[in-house]
Amino acid sequence: MNKKIKIGIIAIVLIVLIGGSTYLLLNKKEASNVKEPDEQIRIEPTKKDENDKEETGNIDSKNRKSLVVYFSVPETDDPNKEMTTEEENSTIVVDGKVLGNTEYVAMLIGEYTDSPIYRIEPKIPYTTNHTDLVSLAKEEQNKNTRPEIRNKISNFDEFDTIYVGYPIWWSDMPQIMYTFFELYDFTGKTVIPFSTHGGSGLAGTVNTIKGKLKETTVETNAFTMSRNDMESAPKEVKSWLEDLGIIN
Ligand SMILES: Cc1cc2nc3c(=O)[nH]c(=O)nc-3n(C[C@H](O)[C@H](O)[C@H](O)COP(=O)(O)O)c2cc1C
Repeated sequence: MNKKIKIGIIAIVLIVLIGGSTYLLLNKKEASNVKEPDEQIRIEPTKKDENDKEETGNIDSKNRKSLVVYFSVPETDDPNKEMTTEEENSTIVVDGKVLGNTEYVAMLIGEYTDSPIYRIEPKIPYTTNHTDLVSLAKEEQNKNTRPEIRNKISNFDEFDTIYVGYPIWWSDMPQIMYTFFELYDFTGKTVIPFSTHGGSGLAGTVNTIKGKLKETTVETNAFTMSRNDMESAPKEVKSWLEDLGIIN
């Protein structure tokens, strides 16, 4: 073989090898961008009663272990104060307790499906000052940050259905949700998204989640509710879960 051709072949092989390893390294770097939380937390799956199974016929009582995960930032926790419009928008008062909108939906899903609930808490708590929160959220989105989560569920692999809830921030999920999705292995699990919003609906977030979790069943009939309709959450959440065939 001509010397020039030989050198050419070697050069091509080297380019492919170097290119491939750089690609792998970069991808690995992206996956390891998320910092492991120092704290671990164990969440007890709900023990299903054998008799319940036959009586209710609910999907969730048929050996499925489900978990409700949510992120929510109620902008006040004081039910007795005169709330600003922003504080009112981000909260609902239930039985004298101030809840975030997404927190309330999570609570209802937990109740109806008899699932434990885990709240995603940032290592550095978010400000409850609306203006500051809005600009911080924008900055995080622009920089595509992965805000750290305070603790990690040590027995995540024990759950097979994960309801995942978040408010819409700047027409997307809050960046901390990206941290959440990158922190765990969702292979083989079912993810059922739910959100609350101020007018944007799901804002394409279900497709974003699908794009991130390639080996996961992501329910496209996700739940979304405007912050202005929170009073009807019990009825709406129930009828959505019935539509999905999860409760009857
Ligand atoms: C930083 C920030 C950005 C927001 N961006 C949007 C948005 O782009 N579209 C929308 O419909 N609502 C937006 N909202 C409104 C929230 O989605 C809505 O109030 C939600 O119910 C809050 O849920 P939470 O109380 O569980 O945190 C935004 C709220 C905040 C605080």
